[in-house]
Amino acid sequence: MSEEAIQATAVDAISCKIYAVKHGYYEDDALLKLLSRGTDTERKSPEIARGTWARVQGTRQELRRFYEKNASRRKVVINCGAGFDTTFWWAKSEGLFKDGEDLWFDLDMEAVVRQRIRRLRMPAAKSLVSSLQNLKITDSKLASDAYQIRVLDMKRSEESAKLIEEIKEEYQIDDQTDVCLIFECVLVYMPTETSGRFLKAAADDFENLKVISYEQLNLNDRFGTVMLENLVQRGCGLDGIDACLSKATQIQRFERVGFRHVDSLRHHNSGEIER
Ligand SMILES: C[S@@+](CC[C@H](N)C(=O)[O-])C[C@H]1O[C@@H](n2cnc3c(N)ncnc32)[C@H](O)[C@@H]1O
Repeated sequence: MSEEAIQATAVDAISCKIYAVKHGYYEDDALLKLLSRGTDTERKSPEIARGTWARVQGTRQELRRFYEKNASRRKVVINCGAGFDTTFWWAKSEGLFKDGEDLWFDLDMEAVVRQRIRRLRMPAAKSLVSSLQNLKITDSKLASDAYQIRVLDMKRSEESAKLIEEIKEEYQIDDQTDVCLIFECVLVYMPTETSGRFLKAAADDFENLKVISYEQLNLNDRFGTVMLENLVQRGCGLDGIDACLSKATQIQRFERVGFRHVDSLRHHNSGEIER
């Protein structure tokens, strides 16, 4: 399976998001500043826009719950396989993310991180980075007091476990800190044992950990088979398909590596997501 094809899914994800935002399904000003120029958003259907809306609302809703539970405690969000996602700026604009206290990491493979940083250096994105204190940017890393972009390849299990440990040590993440890992359409791109190793390392390192994972169920039905065929044609198979066969297999992937409270909210409940 080609790494390039997997990384290209970050562009697909963002073009669906830009399309949905431009057609009024939800708001994301940071996304428009960072990416609307030069990203192809044509030829999307209303079904794609509705699905994207439900995906974004689902993630935002769970993130809001994370920030609002024990609100006085320090919060750290680690968005793994973040692509070009702009949820950090949404959390800031909603007053959920507290500057000077909370931390946010957007992590992805090097080629994606480099593209993302290139975009952040463009004049259109100036207002996004200008509020970051002690900003230091290289081609493959962005550091600031509150917000970081770093390279992560979850398939390299030892390196990624080390990165998680480094983050824990460097930012003194202790039992008084709440940590949330986000995987929005990410885990399916790697074997379940590989993602399991990463999840276990995080669960071992962080005492108060929540995980938000958004991805497919029933990948062996007709719709899932067609989707898989399309991706395979583009050189991008789904190595983590075995965890996406049903609600039960998704729940098991977390229980197997030691998570105690695992729940699954399905798309057809997206009316509930809106409330
Ligand atoms: C479908 S995109 C989703 C991007 C973003 N989460 C979003 O929802 O907009 C999948 C992302 O997962 C990343 N990814 C896939 N395999 C990865 C790995 N082994 N390590 C880190 N990131 C990975 C890709 O580079 C890509 O950015």
